[in-house]
Amino acid sequence: MKKYKRAITYGTFDLFHIGHLRLLKRIADLADELYVAVSSDEFNAIKGKTCVIPFEERAEIIDALGCVTRVIREDNWEQKVSDVLDNHCDLFVMGDDWKGKFDFLKDYCDVIYLPRTPGVSTTDIKQYLKK
Ligand code: CTP
Repeated sequence: MKKYKRAITYGTFDLFHIGHLRLLKRIADLADELYVAVSSDEFNAIKGKTCVIPFEERAEIIDALGCVTRVIREDNWEQKVSDVLDNHCDLFVMGDDWKGKFDFLKDYCDVIYLPRTPGVSTTDIKQYLKK
């Protein structure tokens, strides 16, 4: 039996790659349902990130995955507490490049950082294509 009812994770998921898929599958193994908050293009601009794939298409790709229950939109850094509470999430997960950064959510749900898949990132793919 899965330990959690509903997990939530956040990301940009630009140029969707195997590291993204493995993370989402591992989270889905922990919970009955997986909600994924996909960063909007406007929020990425605030973060200084330019996406190759627009929000609507990144969200559509994530939404089509069998391991994902629902996609929501991420517009700011502050929405996580209300997302967890409003969506009744009992688990928050991110890759371990974010280790410790969201521990404040432990007041509301369990928080887990899973190891990243080595050797792949959107940044690497963008740099490879630039060459
Ligand atoms: N992730 C992962 N393994 C990778 C790359 C990403 O587990 N090799 C995870 C991140 O830790 C995060 C989620 O996937 O929890 C979404 O990450 P995102 O920033 O969209 O992907 P990156 O490839 O890390 O993109 P960038 O290089 O732009 O930071």
